[in-house]
Parts: sequence; C-alpha cells; structure tokens
Amino acid sequence: MAPIDPHSFTDSTHPVTTHIALSLYLDFPSSTIHATALLSLSTPHTGPLSLDTRSLTIHSVLDPQSQAPIPFSLSSDQDPIRGRHLTLSLSNHSSFLVVYSTSPSSSALQWLSPPQTFNKTLPFVYTQCQSIHARSVFPCQDTPAARVTYTCLLNVPSSLSAVMSARHVTRRSPSESSPSHAPPPPHVTWTAEGRAVEEFVMDQPIPTYLFAFAVGELGFREVGPRTRVYAEAAGPVLDEAAREFAGTEEMVQQGERLFGPYDWERFDLLVLPPSFPYGGMENPRMVFLTPTVIKGDASGAQVVAHELAHSWTGNLITNKTNDHFWLNEGFTTYAERRIVEAVQGEDRAALNIGIGWKGLNEEMERFKDNMEFTKLKTNQEGVDPDDVYSQVPYEKGFQFLWRIERQIGRPAFDEFLKKYINTFKFKSIDTETFLDFLKANVPGIEKDIDLELWTEGTGIPPDAYEPVSNIYTKIVSLANEFKLGRMPREDEVADWQGQEWELYLENLPKAVEASQILALDERYRLSESKDYEVKVAFLQLAISAKCRDYYGEVEKTLKSVGRMKYLRPLYTALVQGTGKEEEKILAKRVFAEARDCYHPIAQGVVESIFAKHL
Ligand code: BES
Ligand code: ZN
Repeated sequence: MAPIDPHSFTDSTHPVTTHIALSLYLDFPSSTIHATALLSLSTPHTGPLSLDTRSLTIHSVLDPQSQAPIPFSLSSDQDPIRGRHLTLSLSNHSSFLVVYSTSPSSSALQWLSPPQTFNKTLPFVYTQCQSIHARSVFPCQDTPAARVTYTCLLNVPSSLSAVMSARHVTRRSPSESSPSHAPPPPHVTWTAEGRAVEEFVMDQPIPTYLFAFAVGELGFREVGPRTRVYAEAAGPVLDEAAREFAGTEEMVQQGERLFGPYDWERFDLLVLPPSFPYGGMENPRMVFLTPTVIKGDASGAQVVAHELAHSWTGNLITNKTNDHFWLNEGFTTYAERRIVEAVQGEDRAALNIGIGWKGLNEEMERFKDNMEFTKLKTNQEGVDPDDVYSQVPYEKGFQFLWRIERQIGRPAFDEFLKKYINTFKFKSIDTETFLDFLKANVPGIEKDIDLELWTEGTGIPPDAYEPVSNIYTKIVSLANEFKLGRMPREDEVADWQGQEWELYLENLPKAVEASQILALDERYRLSESKDYEVKVAFLQLAISAKCRDYYGEVEKTLKSVGRMKYLRPLYTALVQGTGKEEEKILAKRVFAEARDCYHPIAQGVVESIFAKHL
C-alpha cells in the first residue's frame, strides 16, 4: 500500500477513477440517500482497489455488464479522519457498480427540517464536501490528486428542485426512462408518485471535493449574462441577494482580463440557509454562499470575488493534497484582491490586506505551540484538515505571492500568473512543482527571495509586508489611541462601513475594560450591527472583558448562524482560559440547544474546541 494523500486510502499502485455516474434517491423523512454509483477506471484492473467512504452502508458491488457480485470488504474500524476503507477485489474490471446508502450522520450533508427553512413547510438539503467529506456522499478516491467527470440523477420530491455544481440537463418524471449512461436505480421505488428526477452532467474533470448539490424550494433571479442568483423562494433573501450581487458580471470580466478566459461557462450563485458553515464555497458553475454576506452595502462582493477567483486558482489548478492547501487559498486570496482592486479601488484592497495581516498575526498566537501550521507547506499526516483550518494558507500565501510581485514588478508577475494557469490547468500540483516553475520562469528569483524560508519555514518571514494606505493607517492609529483611552469621534467614523469597523475592532487590545466596551457600544451600537463581522468582533471583546450585558446577544448570535468563522471565535472566547465557569456553562448549554441547527462539520469543530479547553 502506497498512499498518495494523508487524508485518503487511495493507493498509488491502483488506477484512478476518471468518471462517476450517480443515481441518488433522496429520502427526506429518514435523512438518507439510497444510491448507485458506477465508477470507471483509467485502465482495467485486477486485484484490490481502495476507495474512501464515511458513514456509508455498502449493499453490494456488481459487475455492470453481468451483474455478477464483485467481492468487497469494508474496514471494521473507522479511522477518525479518513473514515472507512472500502477494498474491492477486481478481475480485469474497468468499471463497477456500488449499491449503497448514506446515513443521517453523513458529514457532507445537512438535512434541514421544514421549521429550519424560510417557507416552514418543505425540507432542504445541501452538501459541503471540502475538504474530505465527498466520501460520505459516494464511495470514491477522495483526494484532490485525482480528477473525475460525473453525471448525476437526483430523485427528489416534486415540490422541490435541485441545483448542482454541474450543467443542468433536464427535469423529468421518474417513470420516463433514464439516459443510457445512468446507473440502474437503487433498490427503492424510484418511480413513486410525487417525485421528479433532475439530471446533471459535469464534463470537465474536477476533484471530488468540488462535487455539490442543494435541494429545496428554490427560486432564482437573473443578475447577469452568465449569472443567476438562487435561494429559497420564500422569504426576502432572493431579492436582497439579487441587489447585493448585481455587480458580479463586472467581476467575472475583470477576472478574465487578469487571469485568462473563464472556463466554466456559467457563474451562478446559491445563497444557502444561515447554517451554511463557510462564507463561500467555490463549487464550479455554482458558488455556494452564506446569507450573512448579504449586508446591503455591496461588501458581499468580496466573498464573491474570492469564490470567483477560485475558478482559476483551485478549480483549474488544484493542490495535490491538503499539505499544499496554500496553493489553492493563497493564490485565490491574491487573485481576489486584484479583482477587488479593479472594481472597488486600491484603498478597499489595502483594507482587505490589512484585515488579513491582522488575522495572520493572530494565527501565529493560536499556533504558538504547534508551529507546523504556521508553514505554507504543512505535514497533515494524522491531522484533520477541519481542525487546522486557518488564515495561514490564505494570508501567508498571499504575502508570498505579493512579495514575488514586488520583486519582479506587476507586469511581469501578471504574465507569470497567466502562464502558470495555462500550464497547469485541470491538473493537481504540489509546492515543489510551483517552485520549479517559478525558478524556471523567473531566473535567479531564489537569490532575491528565500523561497525555502517562505514555503517550509514557520512564522512570518521578515520581508512580509504590512500594507500602507491612508485609511488603513488611520484606523490602526485610532485603535492604538483607544488603548490610551480615546474613543473615535463621530466625524472620524462618519463614512466607515463594516470593514473599517472590523479592522478597528480587531486592532483593539484583547484586554479592554468592561466599562470601555459599554461606552464604545453606547456610542456606536456595534453589538446590534447587521454586519456579522462587526458584531462578532465586538462580542469577542465583550466576552474577553467578561461583560455579561452581552451574553444574551452572544447566545442569540450562536443560535442564528452556523458560519464557522463566527462560531469558532465566540465559542473559543467563552471556553478558553481560567476563571470562566459561567462562560463555560453558557457555551455548553447554547451548543446543546443549537447543535441540531449546525452543519455536521461545524458540530465537529465546536466539539473539538470543547475537547481542547473543557
Ligand atoms: N474553499 C474555501 C472554503 C473551505 C475551505 C471549505 C476549506 C472547506 C475547507 C472558500 O473558498 C473560502 O475560502 N471561503 C472563505 C471566504 C473568504 C476568504 C472571502 C470563507 O468561508 O470565509
Ligand atoms: Zn477560498
């Protein structure tokens, strides 16, 4: 056995899967998918073949032509990170059919009951597969080193509709015959009354973590020539989202100017219910977004710029394993800021860089006893990627690329980026491949920049750079004055939007007096901000100062969103440190009450915060 990825059972001596055809029957009452998956290999194979699974029940594995059973075994022990190892015993097979069911605890899937949706009468389900959760929806070689094309039939209640990170082919009655490429339906009443089948095709090869669907009572608005915004049809979200994302096409065009043609045809957006665990997820053709990015001040565009940027960096060029995750997120953060600079100007981009700089410095504190995760290239053997998710790959990766840009100048760096994308598109690469390409295309770069220190060293290299801009510098100095007891005047904050406040609050000292917290809030009402970035940054300070007046607001916040960017700091602030008995009791009670509303990935992350501190 020669693993190619610390997070997968995929074996380097086995052929890779190149295509997956799925028939999925979604059973909402039992939160289960009954399914068949037809996997095709790059070459016929005899002997064992390793696949990843988690929370799947495998009913049978069959030869697709003869229907003869193929022997298989599922490891009896569940690896806490990788899940269960499925081994098939193949005899010159180039494809095989797996008949299986998911379970209600499948980590990629969140099943929302009707009361958890806007319309209150119909259910909703969606996936989040990054980093290693696709294996809880279908058996696969769940490593970004391998790419697959796929087709998918989703059999859903006819009151609901489905969207996917794939091309929609048609919606039909289940009694109409399925296309010839589809695997036979699973052993359920596929043609039951009141059901519809939605058919999708993804004919561009993607890593499995980019597989995604959502099913619910969905509506949409057209906001651009290749962009629709989808969201639950009931409720106010659809109209608000259409306004918020009206500028999307301009960003796609700026992206094309900077990085080359947009290769994925459509760029649709799906706004999910508040429990969505991330700000955004770059599922190809259809980005998934948290509703918290809709703030009415067009700042949600930053998250869209980020997910759009992944269309080039991440989705076209992918990290080979999570050890090289910075290749995805560092490049994307750099590309995002170039798009933001083009559409919102240099000052706004500098503000984003400044917020990132602060975040990067805070991560150094978080990982001070575990410096491995302050490196760009990490060793994630035995490590759950969800547990070490941080700003480091984003912001240190950004700083590294910005450093190279400063060295060679923007025009040369722009050209380098386009060539990099062209050379490696639809491939999965590692840090060494990037460095070799850099050295080949920028001869002598290793003499000017310590590439090894940047990619393999811990901490922040001395030639990283804090941004300078009028507004950034002003805000940081105002935050420093707060330490001396001066609050900003109304005229100084008159034109501040959410990001200005976020930067200000994040630069305040962690140990502020409760009386100062109350005075600041009395004047600027930050605890009531509609912008969760501002509200959560404020509430974190309030918890650190043990300012109990805000614990009601903390509880309300933890019960109304499931985005981990907010859950993580709030739960951590409540439970870390000593002499916090009241806060710890509050955290445990709120989590017990809110747990069912969180996505399984977020549940796991809160549990690991508790395991560390309680
Ligand atoms: N791909 C990430 C989200 C992700 C990372 C999901 C790792 C699972 C594992 C996405 O592109 C992202 O970075 N989202 C950010 C947006 C922000 C940087 C603008 C987020 O969710 O906060
Ligand atoms: Zn990203």
